[in-house]
Order: sequence, then C-alpha cells, then structure tokens
Amino acid sequence: MEMYRRTFAEINLDHLKHNIQVLQKAFPQAPFLCPMVKANAYGHGDVQLARFLESLGIKHLGVCLIEEGLLLRRSGVNAEILVFRGFDREGAEKIIEYNMTPVVSSWEQIDHLEAVASDPVGIHLKFDTGMNRLGFRPEEAQKLFDRLWQNKKIRLKALVTHLFNGEDATDSQGISARQLRDLNRVSTVFKPFNIFCHALNSAGIMSALQMKDAGNTPADHPLFMQNWGLRPGLMIYGYNPLGQNSFGGLKPVMSLKSHVATYRQLHIGETVSYGGTWTAKQDSVIAVVPIGYADGYHRILSNQSSVVFAGKRVPLVGSICMDYLMLDVTEVVRGKDLKDFKDQEVTLFGFASDGSFLSPEELAVQAKSITWEMLTSVGERVPRIYSGLDVGFVFEESRGQR
Ligand SMILES: Cc1ncc(COP(=O)(O)O)c(C=O)c1O
Repeated sequence: MEMYRRTFAEINLDHLKHNIQVLQKAFPQAPFLCPMVKANAYGHGDVQLARFLESLGIKHLGVCLIEEGLLLRRSGVNAEILVFRGFDREGAEKIIEYNMTPVVSSWEQIDHLEAVASDPVGIHLKFDTGMNRLGFRPEEAQKLFDRLWQNKKIRLKALVTHLFNGEDATDSQGISARQLRDLNRVSTVFKPFNIFCHALNSAGIMSALQMKDAGNTPADHPLFMQNWGLRPGLMIYGYNPLGQNSFGGLKPVMSLKSHVATYRQLHIGETVSYGGTWTAKQDSVIAVVPIGYADGYHRILSNQSSVVFAGKRVPLVGSICMDYLMLDVTEVVRGKDLKDFKDQEVTLFGFASDGSFLSPEELAVQAKSITWEMLTSVGERVPRIYSGLDVGFVFEESRGQR
C-alpha cells in the first residue's frame, strides 16, 4: 500500500467476526440477518467488509444507495443486497439488472418496477410507523395487498419498518413497542404471502438481547411477538447504542491512528494554530499530528478532546486544521529525550498499541454528535488497514477500490 503519511484506520476483522457471532448465537432462528454496510460500511470499507461478512455466512447486506449496491456487485459480492433508498425508473432498471432487492416505499416505485421488470422482482415493503421519513402508511396495507397479490412482476418477500426511538424498545408501552405492534398488525393483512418482517436496528437488537440475557422474553412483548428480522448497523462495528457495556460484549472494530510528524518547542505566551485560540501557560512541547478535519476529525473538537500519546491521554490544543492537529505533550515528554518520541503513535480513537482504549462515543459527546457520525466521518483519504485476517483474507489496499 502506498502510504507516505502514517495516518490510517485500523479495522480489526476478528472483532467484527466476534460481533457477528454475538448476533448469530443470540438469534439463531432469525429469519433475516442483514448487516448494514451503507456509508462505506459506517466508514470501515464497504467492499472489504461485505466480502468478509459473506465469508462469515452472511446472506443479506443493506445499503442506502443504488450506487453503493453497484459497487458491491461490481466487486464480486454475491449476497442479496437490499437497497433502502427510493428509486426512479432508471434506478429500477439498475436494481433489476444487478439483481438487487429494492425496499419499496411508494406507489410510484411499484409503478417503476412493473414497468421495467420482465421476470418477477423480489421486494421488501416499507411501512412508516412514525419515523415519518419513508414508507407506506399502515392504513394502506389492504390496498397494497390487493396490488401485489398474484402480481406477475413483483414478488413480496418481507415487510419493513424502522425504529426511530429504539432505545425504549424494552418498554412494552414505549414508542418502539407501538411501532412493532403496528407492523405486526400490518403483517396479518399479508399473511397469505408467507413473508417475514424486519424492524430491529442495533438499539432494538440490543434491547432484545438485554431481555434475553435476563431470561425475560414474554411472547406478548412486542420484541418477541414475532421472529423479527435483524438489521444491525452500529452494533456490528462494536458499539452499543444503549450505552451499556454489561451485556453483548461487543468489540470496537475501528481504531483511528496517526503518528507525530514533528514537535514544536513553545515559549510561555506563544499560541498554537489558526486564530491563536490556545496560549502556552508554560514553556511547552507541542506535537504536530498529520490528521485534520478533512480526514473526519471534527473541527468542533478543537481545544476540547484528548488523544492517546505514548500510553497517556494528552489534550488537543488550538484549532484543528484541514490536515493537522496539535497536542500538548509537555507533561509526557518532560525530562525525556524527544528523539525517543520520533514518529510516536497517536490514537485518535479505538485501541492504542498499549491496549488502552479511547471511545468515539466520548468524542461524539464532545463534538455534540453521535457515534454513527464519528465513524462515518472518517475520510476517504484515510487508508483502511485490515488486521486479524484469520480467514485468509488479503486486502491489498482499501483506497482506490471505492
Ligand atoms: C433502515 C435502517 N435500518 C437499520 C439501520 C441500522 O441502524 P443502527 O446503526 O442504529 O443499527 C439503519 C441506519 O441508519 C437504517 O437506516
């Protein structure tokens, strides 16, 4: 791999495998396990992860865009690819040509598929149970049934909804419970189709897991009233949206790393970076690290966050630049020879070489963001390096394949 700047995202495939196994063990009867690999697999490298997930026996993969599905197909991914975003007639043609499965959420999309399909095309039907983004209203169920029953161009395979407040899914009277009940009710209309339903994202899945772990799985609880299909995103990348680490035992997959490019010796009173927003209160040693907001390290973290440097947390000082950020490493290097810190590894998030861990969840709070955004923000120009290749995978390089 050509890499003249030692900034990269390390992707631990053993950890991904572990997280998938957590799901496979906990839900052996799930009718559908569809890891979401949209948005470049939440920043982890979609082609590489899709291939790896296939090797783990994963049969379905979720993307948002037709373009994302095309990239996977053209890269030799054979799994069933679900395209969640809507499509026009041209999009319908591409979906069919590349044997992808559309998640249909409007009458126009049914028209487009009927217009272009020669053989029956398998679809999933999306119902809007409160997210108010995409999908049919539950009241449209009967009309949809009438349109799709014995339809020669369209074969209904599943019903879909999306939890918009999955964190409350254990609460049998909560918003998610209401959504699940709604989809369950819709599914009775479609009973003659012999289909399944999927609704659980990471928060829903982790909620079900939490209740399973506690031996609490009442059949009348919405989480257990159906054998729901699973659409995990964040959790397969190692993070529990419920924010509890006591169950599930997920393992973070991505570590964002760089290495110090150079050091600056500052006199008391000197400032660092654009706008001079940080002033040295003592003679200081500043490490210059070649990663910036163009790589996805949010500028709002300027003078806020810390990173792992030589096994210690050190503060980020001054404004984050497009290509660089600066650290105050004065206390760590005090009394030591700076030559010993040449090319020192810096961990922006994830696991440092000494095993210490800095969570992107922590950065998300500081950045007034969410873990999903911290992961998906990691930029295209950051090479992904895959480790833990215990299944004989060799990925030469991630950049350039996208
Ligand atoms: C339709 C759909 N299903 C599942 C997911 C996965 O969500 P999460 O990452 O919270 O598991 C997403 C993510 O946004 C989504 O849009």
